[in-house]
Amino acid sequence: MSEIVLLEKIHPTAVAYFEQHGFDRIRQFPRALSGQELLDALGEADAVGIRSNTHLGAEVLQHLPRLRTIGCFCIGTNQVDLVAAAQAGIPVFNAPYSNTRSVAELVIAQAILLLRRIPEKNAKAHRGIWDKSALGAFETRNKTLGIIGYGNIGAQVGILAESVGMQVRYYDPESKLPLGNARPLPLQQVLEQADVVTLHVPGGPGTVNLMNRERLAMMKPNSVLINASRGGVVEIDALDAALRDGRLAGAALDVFPHEPRSEKEEFISPLRGHDNVILTPHIGGSTEEAQANIGQEVAEKLVRFLTAGTTRSAVNFPEIAHQAKEVVSRILNVHKNEPGVIARMNVEYASMGLNIVAQHLQTKGAIGYAITDVDEPVPPELMRKLCAAPAVIRCQLL
Ligand code: NAI
Repeated sequence: MSEIVLLEKIHPTAVAYFEQHGFDRIRQFPRALSGQELLDALGEADAVGIRSNTHLGAEVLQHLPRLRTIGCFCIGTNQVDLVAAAQAGIPVFNAPYSNTRSVAELVIAQAILLLRRIPEKNAKAHRGIWDKSALGAFETRNKTLGIIGYGNIGAQVGILAESVGMQVRYYDPESKLPLGNARPLPLQQVLEQADVVTLHVPGGPGTVNLMNRERLAMMKPNSVLINASRGGVVEIDALDAALRDGRLAGAALDVFPHEPRSEKEEFISPLRGHDNVILTPHIGGSTEEAQANIGQEVAEKLVRFLTAGTTRSAVNFPEIAHQAKEVVSRILNVHKNEPGVIARMNVEYASMGLNIVAQHLQTKGAIGYAITDVDEPVPPELMRKLCAAPAVIRCQLL
């Protein structure tokens, strides 16, 4: 039975899932490891589960010939050398959508609080000021929510917003199926019509300073801006100016261009001190439920790979949709993506008199991955021949 090593206090839902599926060789370490300690911990591991603080670079991976798969129990995968892992035949999995609901709920809460001017009332009450004025405080009902980026989180925010009576408009450069009352519009029209604008775009060069001075100026007077996507998406000085001018009535930011690496580092931002701005320390997706979902989601992907070799949603590897192993033998073959590899492999099967009952092949960049099912035992000499072929990176009999 495969050995699974879990580092960095991964949520107990993961262990529960592994155990339910018959994996009982699980070793756990409460913190990230590095250097020789890491190599010692992973020497016998078939699968490793990490969070963001364990670094699995090319030099670590080359010392772990037994390791078959890596699970990042988080969203990001920067801590793993994905190319080196793929070249070693190791698929890497993560949990990109486990915290979608958590972010969406926070955004709706922020929209309600900002429209009611609660951040200012709260700040004033803390200073002993009893401001009961209804001026500028609005219900969400019949207000327009403008979503920039109608992906997983954006679409979920739209559904929740409709349930509190909002009209949903969105902009996305890709054509997306509108859910509920949501309607697509050009970016400028979303900004001009929305009482609340919320950003749910990916990071990267295409979205840096998406909300710059010009776009902030397109927003309806007294509207509010929410950003729980990536820090670079809003030009912070321009937002600061729009808030100081009173053009925008408020903002909520969960992500920033420069975020402290730990509690010990001070959070510096020109937005500190605005009573009408909600600042949160990148916790949009940080809930108990999201952690539990991550534990379950990544464990499920690892179990599927370990038991069936399937790789749906691997971040660095050819993806083969899940099908349980229901045959006597399943052969996993990771190889260089070059002509003739599968033809030569199938000649070997035929020469041994083995009948292929199903075969699935996918390629991604330099890597090809084939899963072959045969309904009889595969002799060790065939496995030796298959594994010795020059294009083969890794092969295994399940
Ligand atoms: P997703 O990939 O499902 O959706 C992103 C959408 O943005 C896609 O529909 C895409 O077509 C669209 N898009 C791309 N470029 C665009 C542009 N220039 N203008 C408008 N739309 C554009 O991503 P998901 O899962 O919805 O995540 C959205 C963002 O939320 C990501 O940046 C992610 O990193 C961030 N996030 C933040 C969290 C937090 O704790 N605050 C937690 C989880 C995700």
